[in-house]
Amino acid sequence: MASLANPFAGNLPPKKLTKEELIQAIRLDIVGELEAIFLYDAHVQAMDDPIAKKVLADIRDEEKAHVGELMTLLRLLDPEEAKHFAEGENEVKEMLEELNITEKPLSGKAESTIGSLIDK
Ligand SMILES: [Fe+2]
Repeated sequence: MASLANPFAGNLPPKKLTKEELIQAIRLDIVGELEAIFLYDAHVQAMDDPIAKKVLADIRDEEKAHVGELMTLLRLLDPEEAKHFAEGENEVKEMLEELNITEKPLSGKAESTIGSLIDK
């Protein structure tokens, strides 16, 4: 979501954001973080330089932490939306139960990732 081509992109609005506008801004910030994760990860996968891989992977993972911070902020600002997030999490838990799969950690460090499967 690079907006460097728009010279007005960084201009502050003439007023403070309402709570609803702030919530929308946080959603947009989350999109930006997800796009950054996607791009850094693509760069990591597309090169062999070990130093660049390590630095960019570290930056990518910092962006993941930013998503977590912004999602937490969004839940605090909009408890109603937080209920919807919880509904979705519970739906997946129910599907896991239907498949007789013992619950995997939904937060924290995953045991296996798509990247780890590619490496094997
Ligand atoms: Fe970030």
